[in-house]
Amino acid sequence: MSSLARGVFIVIEGLDRSGKSTQVARLVDRIQSATTDASSSGSTPRAVPLKFPDRTTAIGKMIDAYLRSESDLDDHAIHLLFSANRWELAPKIEALLASGTTIVADRYAFSGIAFSAQKSPHLNLTFEWCKAPEIGLPAPDLTLFLDVKPEIAMQRGGYGEERYEKQEVQTRVRQVFERIGEEIGADRWVVIDAGQDRDKVGDDIWNRVVPVLRDTHKPVTRLWH
Ligand code: TMP
Ligand code: MG
Repeated sequence: MSSLARGVFIVIEGLDRSGKSTQVARLVDRIQSATTDASSSGSTPRAVPLKFPDRTTAIGKMIDAYLRSESDLDDHAIHLLFSANRWELAPKIEALLASGTTIVADRYAFSGIAFSAQKSPHLNLTFEWCKAPEIGLPAPDLTLFLDVKPEIAMQRGGYGEERYEKQEVQTRVRQVFERIGEEIGADRWVVIDAGQDRDKVGDDIWNRVVPVLRDTHKPVTRLWH
């Protein structure tokens, strides 16, 4: 029994309609079934999904209203709310990892930076300013960036319902994500071709995740520390 092994923190990032939610669910199932045999802890989940923004909290409800254009907020204020929504869940992330549960998160701090910093031509939302409130959050062991061309994503169902689902916004977001990937580095940031069919995307993700699942004896680090 490996009761000392912590859980692994995996993040799936990407543009709107890049297939993140589907792949998060698949990855959780796959980790779950791969670890069931090895685990003696019966029904204890070995992997759980998380989703950012978490729209169920008080802060999350403000974010939800903003995204559905039911409210307007200053761009700095909404940026800080998205970040606060992660900080309010940081203790839960740490507790889950410490208890040996792997987390697969649908978006994280990188979306926070990318969607706000893409506004910077008009405002003071510089890359550095957007990054600052995310410094110190639990760092993912691996981020899988589901890369899809904005013009492909916008053909997918449901596109355009929420505030940032516009091709020119998504194009700028993708550029900021590229910069973030360079900063994080190839050992913790992997680009997956999300234009492929779902099964192939799932297999590409799985191949990158397997080695990371074995690497559970180093401590959880913090973003940009
Ligand atoms: P969702 O569609 O995955 O629920 O995400 C909602 C939108 O919010 C999406 O367009 C990305 C954006 N977003 C931010 O602007 N900042 C953040 O910190 C996060 C997590 C998402
Ligand atoms: Mg969305």
